[in-house]
Amino acid sequence: MLHSAILNVMIKAAHRAGRSLKRDLGEVEKLQVSVKGPGNFVTAADRRAEEIVREELAKARPDYGFLGEEGGLREGTDRTHRWIVDPLDATTNFLHGIPHFAVSIALERDGVIVAGLTYNPANDDLFVAERGKGAFLNNQRIRVAARRRLADAIVGCGLPHYGRGDLRQARFEIAAAQRNFAGLRRYGSATLDLAWVAAGRLDAYWERDLSPWDMAAGILLVREAGGFVSDLDGAEAIFAKSQVAAGNETMHRELLRLLREAGREALAPAATA
Ligand code: IPD
Ligand code: CA
Ligand code: CA
Repeated sequence: MLHSAILNVMIKAAHRAGRSLKRDLGEVEKLQVSVKGPGNFVTAADRRAEEIVREELAKARPDYGFLGEEGGLREGTDRTHRWIVDPLDATTNFLHGIPHFAVSIALERDGVIVAGLTYNPANDDLFVAERGKGAFLNNQRIRVAARRRLADAIVGCGLPHYGRGDLRQARFEIAAAQRNFAGLRRYGSATLDLAWVAAGRLDAYWERDLSPWDMAAGILLVREAGGFVSDLDGAEAIFAKSQVAAGNETMHRELLRLLREAGREALAPAATA
């Protein structure tokens, strides 16, 4: 397929950052055996990747704003366009040498995401979408899964970790998912979870406590693949509430219902998990 000029710019930036991350992953694997571990090295790898993405994008569109996880917001002279970038989504996987992480780049125009890219340098999976033009994985059109039966569905999620999030609520939600779905997965990269929903690998996905750069590209991928994306109340306040649910129409609706029920159970006084 022929990509638009803007998508080509994004792909070039992601490939360059991806090459840098892949080289650094080799070093991370060696550092696993040291007592100090690869922590500082990974922080540097992360920043390096963001700098590469920023530099590449700025070469082509010097006026656009840039919101990156590492460097925060840099306003552009063009107030209508802004990049939203996570140079390394799934830092924890990367730190442990797990080859499931991604570069995520989205372009927002007047507050609407118009282009999105998620790239896993470890296996070269490149997911791209442009508003109104469909979603693609390595140049092949992708669609969300057609499954309708919850008992056949594989669902991705995020989990509260290391002092973050509501453990009790999560226990009830996980129990509900276990009762209803064929399987639950926690892969550790929000942007790839959404991309995998777009590609029909996962039937649905939900997570809380996310940031715009974790979700921006993936939201467009799912919608352009024919899927539904919302906050956990079924509304559009995804960035404002820092939460997301995605799937085909049935899975998305049923997932929201289960999460609502689980939330009520978690609040009931006599309830035990
Ligand atoms: C994280 C990943 C992970 C999600 C975390 C995010 P990071 O991003 O997307 O899947 O569960 O909440 O912070 O920090 O590795 O870029
Ligand atoms: Ca992230
Ligand atoms: Ca990150």
